[in-house]
Amino acid sequence: MSRGKIPEEILDAIRERTAIEQIIGEYVPLKRAGRHFKGLCPFHHEKTPSFTVNTDLQIFKCFGCGESGNVFNFLMKYENISFFEAVERLAASAGISLPDTPVESKQKRDETSHILDAMQAAWKKYIRCLQSDPAAESARRYLSERGITEPLCKRYGLGFAPDQWDFLSTSLQIPRQILVKSGLSILGSESNKIYDRFRNRIMFPIRDYRKGHVIAFGGRTLGDDPAKYINSPESPIYHKSNVLYGLYEAHKEIRTAREVILVEGYFDRISLDRAGFPNAVAPCGTAITADQIRLLKRFADKVYLLFDSDEAGMKAARKALELCLSAGLETRAIPLPEGMDPDDVLRTLGPDGLKEHISRAVSGLDFLIRSASKRFDLSQARGRREAVDDMIPFLVNVENSIDRGAFISRIADLLSVPVESVLELCRRHRMRHIKENAVSTGEANNSNNSNTDPATDQLDVVERDLFCFLLQNPDYLSWDHNPLTAESMRSGMGKEIYRLLRDTFRDMGQLPVARILERTEDKRVQRILIDLFDDPNRNRRLVDRDSGTVFQSLVHAFRERDLRNELSFIKKQLSKCDISDVDADFLLRRQLEILEELNAKSSLDAG
Ligand code: CTP
Ligand code: MN
Repeated sequence: MSRGKIPEEILDAIRERTAIEQIIGEYVPLKRAGRHFKGLCPFHHEKTPSFTVNTDLQIFKCFGCGESGNVFNFLMKYENISFFEAVERLAASAGISLPDTPVESKQKRDETSHILDAMQAAWKKYIRCLQSDPAAESARRYLSERGITEPLCKRYGLGFAPDQWDFLSTSLQIPRQILVKSGLSILGSESNKIYDRFRNRIMFPIRDYRKGHVIAFGGRTLGDDPAKYINSPESPIYHKSNVLYGLYEAHKEIRTAREVILVEGYFDRISLDRAGFPNAVAPCGTAITADQIRLLKRFADKVYLLFDSDEAGMKAARKALELCLSAGLETRAIPLPEGMDPDDVLRTLGPDGLKEHISRAVSGLDFLIRSASKRFDLSQARGRREAVDDMIPFLVNVENSIDRGAFISRIADLLSVPVESVLELCRRHRMRHIKENAVSTGEANNSNNSNTDPATDQLDVVERDLFCFLLQNPDYLSWDHNPLTAESMRSGMGKEIYRLLRDTFRDMGQLPVARILERTEDKRVQRILIDLFDDPNRNRRLVDRDSGTVFQSLVHAFRERDLRNELSFIKKQLSKCDISDVDADFLLRRQLEILEELNAKSSLDAG
């Protein structure tokens, strides 16, 4: 459901009965700090609290990672849910019942439930086929040869899609468009006929960990199809970047053990169960994502990485390690014999062999050092430099300073470089990281640079000042003599924020930040708005004087900025050698006009 669809009175009632510090407090231990609350940020790893909840504004903000928003945003982000789901939860805990869903969204809900039904029906067919269809004889043989017994097939709901183009469309009573939307069928590009996506494949159902609904499939070929696996495409019910294969089956075990084993493949996942490790998960045919790691963090404190020992597997393991470290998860890696994956180990060495390997897990950092010494020639100065460069990004992610110190001295030892130079590289990496972050949140424009390139799409200093002022003095947005419009902003971002403030004020007669945030989906805009609210120095400078005077000076600043831009444009044009006399004449005259206006302004300011 889109945000506009929930009646505003209901949202108001929810906001009124919801204390942001209480809701967030259920997830993050908060301490009162003056008028606000503080805690350890749940969205990045930290040891000293920089996560604050501002009860006046009803917003949260982390000064470490920049994550921010209102109570709905918090739940959406933390629980990985939609706006509507966040509203549902808050409504429930505030004891407010939501009205019957409006028409459009009901349609959407119907579509979702039809797709879920289609997946369920197809799944049943695939299971039945694997169990008893003569066409699945080879599949049954294949599975039993790979040691996947019947109880395991049952536990993981394995099925078989026969080698047929119309198995689903002829055996299910489901509308074509639903079959296509679910990803089970494909619409032919010319024939306008639909056909089955999965053919002659062992089917692994991918299930929603909360309710167990089948939301996607992975299918392994039994034939010589060059695509060993085919996976369901994204659909209204399936977003692969935040789903983990096997989490539904394992979430209780993982929660209890607070430990999880992360593997690469569907078969690996099931093999681990055979070896006595039910607490394993795998991504669904893609590289592991930060969202998936965040999901795991809700169940586990410790992650074991058990990846194929080929080059691709090691690369994937390093990526996963980086994500785990920066999520603050304790991470270990399990080295496997060259060229083997967990399933190979199980098949050749048996469950005890696999257990034995798992028991030899090394720390994530040991794993990195090993992997670097394999990939770089450490006998050469150049190889050593490359190895350090390779490890720095991981190093700076180690939050615990004792661990980090130990790691730094081990690297220095291993590579026979002085500890100081490793430290220096870490510092430089950090600085670069901070600068990059500053640029992406628009902070870099705080400097006195009023000639920012419009193409960078960032607010410049006068735009920031203006918005800061308007948030405190919104009346000027509808003032008849206000010469500024959205078009006066140079960046696309500035235009968008201006419109957002203007429209919110028009609709509500005020500008409560928590409400403005709900009217935009753009994370960067949300972040900037919160920064503007939270910028005490700027606020004071803009608020302590008479608002009319401040507004006039802002309008002047806009004019001056535009004039200066025009001036530098003219200079550039004049310096071109192919410019015509007429154009040059015109430009020179305009230049003079501008200079005069600027002079008049500065003498005005001086007086
Ligand atoms: N994968 C995929 N598409 C492919 C190959 C692989 O989506 N063409 C994904 C699957 O999720 C697969 C995982 O990557 O489970 C690991 O791939 P691989 O190691 O090649 O497959 P295994 O799971 O080991 O399968 P098998 O044991 O049958 O070789
Ligand atoms: Mn494999």
